[in-house]
Amino acid sequence: MSAQYDQIGEKVADWDVLPVRSDVLEGHTFFNALGSVKGLDVLDLACGDGLYTRQLKARGANRVVGVDISEEMIRGAQRAEEAEPAGLEYHVADVADMAPLGRFDRVTAVYLLHYANSPEHMLRMCRNIHAHLKPGGSFVTYAFNPEFSARGPNSTRYGITMLDFPLEPRDGHPIRAVLHTKTPFTIHFSYWSRATHERVLREAGFHAFTWTRPECSPAGVRARGQAFWQDYLDNPHAVALRCER
Ligand SMILES: C[S@@+](CC[C@H](N)C(=O)[O-])C[C@H]1O[C@@H](n2cnc3c(N)ncnc32)[C@H](O)[C@@H]1O
Repeated sequence: MSAQYDQIGEKVADWDVLPVRSDVLEGHTFFNALGSVKGLDVLDLACGDGLYTRQLKARGANRVVGVDISEEMIRGAQRAEEAEPAGLEYHVADVADMAPLGRFDRVTAVYLLHYANSPEHMLRMCRNIHAHLKPGGSFVTYAFNPEFSARGPNSTRYGITMLDFPLEPRDGHPIRAVLHTKTPFTIHFSYWSRATHERVLREAGFHAFTWTRPECSPAGVRARGQAFWQDYLDNPHAVALRCER
């Protein structure tokens, strides 16, 4: 898996300007699901180049640690930290095998679980996430929407296109998606149903699952109008999921 994002490298530089990744949609939905992080210790998994890791700190989190399997992504995150030091700590690791980094109030992961290549791989990730949470802590993730439908509108004009998405996706089905950045790139991941996510997370010790479909913030509606967002909101490619330790 590391090779995938190691090769993508700098192509992610402008992915935060894609409508699908904007703070009025993705950020708005993710941070609403997360709630306040003021004074909390947060572990941000699959942190990539640190887009959300930096925002967690800016929102008042205490200790913030980012982890990603890709050395290239972590290099980008560290470059940003050197340019504007915020006290962020970064590590290269597969979440499934990561060594203990302490206990946190929140573990976050924007796009992680669909990179599991089997339910066993996802379980190893989720057990490690559980082990990094303080009692009463929460895991908040934003991940590929298990209910995305090939019959619904595709999300191309929002910046991402699902390629050959099956009509009846089954667990483990390989999925490809193109990100329409300045230099477009294709990502590869696996389909996992909602039931599989919940079964694996429950086995790892989590309970109280809350799935939230993306919402557009009032600022996003003012900027582009509800009609612009509606196709995406009718068939979003990602959803937020929160569960408790
Ligand atoms: C779509 S990117 C998201 C990055 C960041 N969270 C963001 O939203 O900008 C997915 C990231 O997951 C990382 N990743 C995939 N599998 C992983 C694993 N098993 N452990 C840690 N990171 C992983 C990839 O290297 C990549 O940086």
